[in-house]
Amino acid sequence: MSHSLKNPSSGENIFKPAKEFSKNARIKSMAQYQRMYQESIEKPGIFWAKEARELTWQKKWTKALKWKAPYAKWFVGGKLNVCESCVDQHLSNGRANKAAIIWEGEPGESRTLTYRQLHREVCTFANILLAQGIQAKDRVMIYMPMTPEAVIAMLACARIGAVHSVIFGGFSAESIVDRLEDCEAKAIITSDGGYRRGKVVPLKKNVDDALKKYKKIESVIVHQRIGSEEAPVKMKRGRDFWWHEQAAQVSSKHEAKAFDSEHPLFILYTSGSTGKPKGILHTAGGYLTGTYATCKYIFDMQDDDVYWCTADVGWITGHSYITYGPLANGVTQVMYEGAPNFPDFGRFWDLVEKYQVSIFYTAPTAIRAFIKAGDHFPESRDLSSLRLLGTVGEPINPEAWRWYHSKIGGERCPIVDTWWQTETGAIMISPLPGCTPTTPGTATLPFFGVDAAILDETGQEVGPNEGGKLVIRKPWPSMLRTIYGDKKRYRNTYWDDYPGIYTAGDGARRDKKGNFWITGRLDDVLNVSGHRLGTAEVESALVAHKVVAESAVVGRPHEIKGQGIVAFVTVKSGIETSDTMAKELREHVGHIIGAIAKPDEIYFTPALPKTRSGKIMRRLLKELVASGTVSGNITTLEDHKVISDLQEQLRK
Ligand code: WT7
Repeated sequence: MSHSLKNPSSGENIFKPAKEFSKNARIKSMAQYQRMYQESIEKPGIFWAKEARELTWQKKWTKALKWKAPYAKWFVGGKLNVCESCVDQHLSNGRANKAAIIWEGEPGESRTLTYRQLHREVCTFANILLAQGIQAKDRVMIYMPMTPEAVIAMLACARIGAVHSVIFGGFSAESIVDRLEDCEAKAIITSDGGYRRGKVVPLKKNVDDALKKYKKIESVIVHQRIGSEEAPVKMKRGRDFWWHEQAAQVSSKHEAKAFDSEHPLFILYTSGSTGKPKGILHTAGGYLTGTYATCKYIFDMQDDDVYWCTADVGWITGHSYITYGPLANGVTQVMYEGAPNFPDFGRFWDLVEKYQVSIFYTAPTAIRAFIKAGDHFPESRDLSSLRLLGTVGEPINPEAWRWYHSKIGGERCPIVDTWWQTETGAIMISPLPGCTPTTPGTATLPFFGVDAAILDETGQEVGPNEGGKLVIRKPWPSMLRTIYGDKKRYRNTYWDDYPGIYTAGDGARRDKKGNFWITGRLDDVLNVSGHRLGTAEVESALVAHKVVAESAVVGRPHEIKGQGIVAFVTVKSGIETSDTMAKELREHVGHIIGAIAKPDEIYFTPALPKTRSGKIMRRLLKELVASGTVSGNITTLEDHKVISDLQEQLRK
């Protein structure tokens, strides 16, 4: 049992890992962490090179880091094939017949792929891609459900040096078009459909709709996940191919060729403060080193662990902590296709019991939904196989932390609250489970090699418990290399605040012990159920509707989702507003972006609060939805009546 003690200064509980856990953990004491951290900050090249050497390289690098801000090159001159570390190496290290992926579909079927089988599937699919004429550096879009084939598709792209760009299956056809146009993809890998909450998501149909607008796709490879009337599929001759038919025609042997350490591995789109998502580019050697090392130390992956990360491969968590990091560690992992509440909120705990999961990684929003669903779900399952828990995506509220610790972790499992971003590629701030004392709500201390700090506007480090901007002062291997096709935006977004220093976009403070408390985004980015969404994206989706003249979107605290979406809409003159119209607008946003972007509330207003120069004052709207009133400075507001009218409306 881990023991907890009261922190006299804050009145909060401090949890320390149990002796039995620390004894077998990779990092066993704070002294060991501090020594290694110090070394890693003083000589990052030496620390990271040691980690990188545990991976498979065909040619060793000559220099660990070349840094010319804001551009980093890691393991300069080194050559590798990422697939060899994730798959091939395990054929000769005793893990060939070990389960790599234990998959369960939402309807309940299950499938296991050993490392040897995974290798065969990846090689076969690599040959399918080659037969379609796909070459190194070509962009390949992946739009699939949570099946092993999604991971196989990613690895096969990596194997031939193609750059994958995975799009979350919940995104709409319109969102696919935007991303296809931005990265100029040549091929798409999809499925006939996937199961989500008992229904089939028509993935191939969405792809077909997208391809009416984007014409540069040469091949669409379709995995048959459903294979029935539930997912009718139209195949276009010469463009669309069934995965299984192609597999029958190619060899299952493929020799992994080496690529440069800085070869592009993938592009992943994420929201920023404008309407256009950013294509975050990650490269091979550094990214793999970062994800490998963080899995090893933060999830303390051991050979007999059964690890389960509940994220979707469409997000960075799925890239780093389902595909690349865990496989490079040769761990056994569970992968689940569907919703946490299908058929009911016991599903996750059934899976933990059935597959004897030992490391479990999920999001605070899921935990809050479980709390609401009721304790009988976890209480009626045997969760004693668990030894370590993790969270990611947003700050975890202490209530959710304590519930997770007691109801899921049986008060014996350390919790790692991991802070990181699509851009950072790998976890940056987190406890190490065998040594770090944790307090609910803080991601605690920086990982090895991560020089995190909190700065004020002038670039000075702030004092204890003072708020400021979270920054990283030194380059790290898994950092983004650029925004695809937009160097200017890359510089503006991350490097303009302080020369040579990465600005994360989050606010934070550090307590006296140095623990980082992340307070949330400082830009116009919402965090809805742990997913990033730009207010500008939702606004431009709304304005694309024929009745809308103008809109302003803000976040408001939401019990389950962390943040909910509130939209203020002004319609064109002469148009009547109604509840039906609000409903239609919600659906419209779902259609343009995807279901996660649908506003929770829509308020119609004849005008939006603006400054005299015409800028929408979102700050006021934010305050209004959070507290019902507006305090602070409103002298720049052009028309005060707008606010009082809105206040009136919100009261109703
Ligand atoms: C943003 C990044 C990293 C994978 C999932 C989201 C927030 C993430 C935490 C945490 C507090 C967190 C930040 C960050 N965030 N993890 N443990 N505590 N906030 O990736 O979509 O790139 O979003 O999520 O605001 O900037 P993402």
